[in-house]
Amino acid sequence: MVVRFLARFATRRFVAPTRSPSLPRRRMGQPALFLHLLLLLLFALCWGQRSNPGGKRPRCGRCDPRLACNCSHAGLTRVPSVAAGARTLDLSFNDISEVAADDLTGHARLEALSLHGNKLAVIHPSAFDSLWSLEELDLSDNQLAVLHRRWFSRLGVLRELNLLHNPYSCLGSRPVFQRLVGLRRLRIGGPALEELKRRDLTGITQLEELTVHANNLTRYEAGTLGDVWPLGRVTLSLHGPFLTNVSLASAVLRDVSYPETQLILDDLHLIGNRSVLPLRETARKRVRKMSFHNLSVSDEAITDFLVALDGIPLTSVFMDGIMLTGEGRWEGARLTDYKSIDEFFLRNVVVLNVFHFTSFLELAFLLKYPRKVSVINSQVFVMPCLTSRLLVNLQYLDLSDNLLTDMTLVETLCDGDGTLKGLRALNLSGNALKSLSTMSRQVAKLSKLTHLDISRNGYSSMPQGCSWPSTLRYLNISRAKLTTITSCLPATLEVLDLSYNDLKGFLLILPALRELHLSGNKLLRLPLGWLFPNLQTLTIQSNTLNMFDRSDLESYSRLQDLQAGQNKFVCSCDFVHFLQSVVKEAGGVHLTDREESYVCDSPFSLQGEPVGRVQLSVVVCQRVLFVSVSCGVALLVGLLVCVLLWRLHAFWYLRMTWAWLRAKRGSQRRRRRDGPESEALLSYDAFVSYSERDASWVENLLVPELEQPRDNDEGSVNHRPLTLCLHKRDFLPGRWIVDNIMSAMERSRRTLFILSENFVQSDWCRYELDFSHFQLFSGSAGGDAAILVLLEPLSKDDIPRRFCKLRKLMSSNTYLEWPQEEERSEEFWRRLRLALRGEEDDRERRTS
Ligand SMILES: *[C@@H]1O[C@H](CO)[C@@H](O)[C@H](O)[C@H]1NC(C)=O
Ligand SMILES: *[C@@H]1O[C@H](CO)[C@@H](O)[C@H](O)[C@H]1NC(C)=O
Ligand SMILES: *[C@@H]1O[C@H](CO)[C@@H](O)[C@H](O)[C@H]1NC(C)=O
Ligand SMILES: *[C@@H]1O[C@H](CO)[C@@H](O)[C@H](O)[C@H]1NC(C)=O
Ligand SMILES: *[C@@H]1O[C@H](CO)[C@@H](O)[C@H](O)[C@H]1NC(C)=O
Repeated sequence: MVVRFLARFATRRFVAPTRSPSLPRRRMGQPALFLHLLLLLLFALCWGQRSNPGGKRPRCGRCDPRLACNCSHAGLTRVPSVAAGARTLDLSFNDISEVAADDLTGHARLEALSLHGNKLAVIHPSAFDSLWSLEELDLSDNQLAVLHRRWFSRLGVLRELNLLHNPYSCLGSRPVFQRLVGLRRLRIGGPALEELKRRDLTGITQLEELTVHANNLTRYEAGTLGDVWPLGRVTLSLHGPFLTNVSLASAVLRDVSYPETQLILDDLHLIGNRSVLPLRETARKRVRKMSFHNLSVSDEAITDFLVALDGIPLTSVFMDGIMLTGEGRWEGARLTDYKSIDEFFLRNVVVLNVFHFTSFLELAFLLKYPRKVSVINSQVFVMPCLTSRLLVNLQYLDLSDNLLTDMTLVETLCDGDGTLKGLRALNLSGNALKSLSTMSRQVAKLSKLTHLDISRNGYSSMPQGCSWPSTLRYLNISRAKLTTITSCLPATLEVLDLSYNDLKGFLLILPALRELHLSGNKLLRLPLGWLFPNLQTLTIQSNTLNMFDRSDLESYSRLQDLQAGQNKFVCSCDFVHFLQSVVKEAGGVHLTDREESYVCDSPFSLQGEPVGRVQLSVVVCQRVLFVSVSCGVALLVGLLVCVLLWRLHAFWYLRMTWAWLRAKRGSQRRRRRDGPESEALLSYDAFVSYSERDASWVENLLVPELEQPRDNDEGSVNHRPLTLCLHKRDFLPGRWIVDNIMSAMERSRRTLFILSENFVQSDWCRYELDFSHFQLFSGSAGGDAAILVLLEPLSKDDIPRRFCKLRKLMSSNTYLEWPQEEERSEEFWRRLRLALRGEEDDRERRTS
């Protein structure tokens, strides 16, 4: 059979208090000072060449935000350069063979340095000088053959030092730890350690933890370890001395054994009665707690051990990784007294002669006292009922990770007859049990049982009814194969663990339940909260929950802690908002798992995104609000635009354009119909465009003046009266006014605009103006079809900008001004008549 040994864990904590380093100072005489300055100068001069000695130093940038730099397993052959303010530096498992003088300079804030598992053979004496804040130093598993006291001379705040497994045979000729007054954890030794001398630990006064690997120790000066006190915990590997040099082993044990000190002995091989002799020293010092790791022991040694420790107030024996080479015949120690023994803890026990191994029947002397017995992972397939009957004081029994079956369990618990009546906690985790009804029947009479751990067994179904002790509070059936739950679960439970089963639902009232663990099942939603009026903690990770909401949580009246990560969350708006508010502890429920474990599973675009970081837009989440707000905004903008357009007279322009287009089309139609001889249509000399407000001037002055024949005219052309077209008089009733205007203008040779303030105000006048423009350029009449008469002085700048046409006309055409003085009016009329007639005369002259 193979011996199984426990791996030893070296737990290294990186503590980080800040402490101001204190610089050791030396007083110098004048000449010395001068010399120093000179040296400094030389040094400064040489610095240029020396700044990068021995090629490039590698860099390691693997530092986290708290400046913990992890450069382990990086294949480094030299100490790399790292961030200047680094707090911890892990260089373990590299190939570094040397720490040079300036490799670690500038790391005054470094608190923990690990060089574990390298090939360190050389460390410069002053390599650690600048590490004023260093509290933990790990140099284990290297090639250091000599320890240098100079290394540690500046490490005044060092608390933890590990020098294990280096090939040094002694700690040095002079005390190396002298300056380490703050040291609390020290690990020394290795396969090569041969000698420990009296002054080796000078400087160390008290330790929380001391580990000495001295399997090959051959010389030990008594008292070497004896000066350290108080001593919290001592771990000794003294394989060789126990076998070959009993007096040496005894001397070591004598120095470290104290009633309050926990003693851990590693790697012992106890065969004959001689090898047990050193333990008499511990017995003499009345040690209370003893542990053995990696122990192989014979029947004789056990008997001797029991005899040796007879009567001392030993309270607990802890054995991890033991090989029993005998047959369990320990009755030689039956007269011993172990009244004070409280706990036996055995783990990873291997029995070499398992078929010859006798029961523990003769061990009544040993078994009737302990309250706690653990036999873990030791291939126990049965504990005979007779043995159980011996454990009369037993309150806690842990048989986890063994080979118990339903049948052997019946034997172990004496068919449920109430043996082990004081039992309060039973741990049968990790066995081969299959029947819950057998289980419940076997423990039903254990009238004090409160804790039952039957996790990691083969339970696949639950009977309808079970008979549990009424005291049962804690039940762990996790990591089984249960698919449903029934009222088999007792209502007295306060803690129930059903995680990692195949449950699809949970419908059972458990009024006393405080903690419910349902992780790793197939639940689609949270169980109904009113089933558990007292529930405070619920873990339901790794199920198939899609979502849960406030009302789900509110149905739990007392829930405080919830773990629901690693589910298949559908990240709807409601859920995302709800969860983000719960994360902020708005709901009174505290999410105790990490926020990052809440990850969206759908919609696809959000898959893999932590819910806490999802940002859903308003468009997605507040659709109704969004639509109504955007409609409102659109309406408002529309309104604003309308107002703006109105202010900018856009409607006017629009109407204008429309009228213009219609007019143009109409005129084209007319022209096609009438043919090119449109001249025949000209039935007026002028169309008069004027504002209604200026009507009096037009009717009383203009019309009589121009339409009545004049006899006193000097020119021959002036004999004929002019025909004018006035909208009031000549427009055809019933037609669209624009058409009327259009045709009136077309049928007139010229258009006469009576400009005044009023004209500018009038819409119609402006139309007319525009039509005239249209005619000016597209019509038959020539350049001066429009004649402007200014009724009152009107400068171009008085005309609003948008009447660009009028402004243009005013600047291009000369205009006639109605004179304010009476006597000049004759002149005005003459010129007007001339203007109105001008072209006609030309034409007459041409035709004649
Ligand atoms: C130390 O002892 C072991 C046996 O426990 C032996 O194999 C080994 O050679 C020894 N080492 C030294 C350096 O003496
Ligand atoms: C256990 O102890 C034996 C000596 O008894 C030693 O050779 C072996 O390496 C140890 N095993 C472990 C895992 O420490
Ligand atoms: C150890 O055992 C031997 C026999 O194996 C016996 O002669 C001797 O007296 C024993 N010594 C002690 C101290 O028990
Ligand atoms: C039972 O043993 C298992 C495995 O050793 C352990 O994880 C569990 O915590 C124990 N249960 C109790 C209630 O101590
Ligand atoms: C239940 O047992 C499992 C496996 O032994 C263990 O990991 C878990 O912590 C236990 N649950 C509780 C609530 O102690």
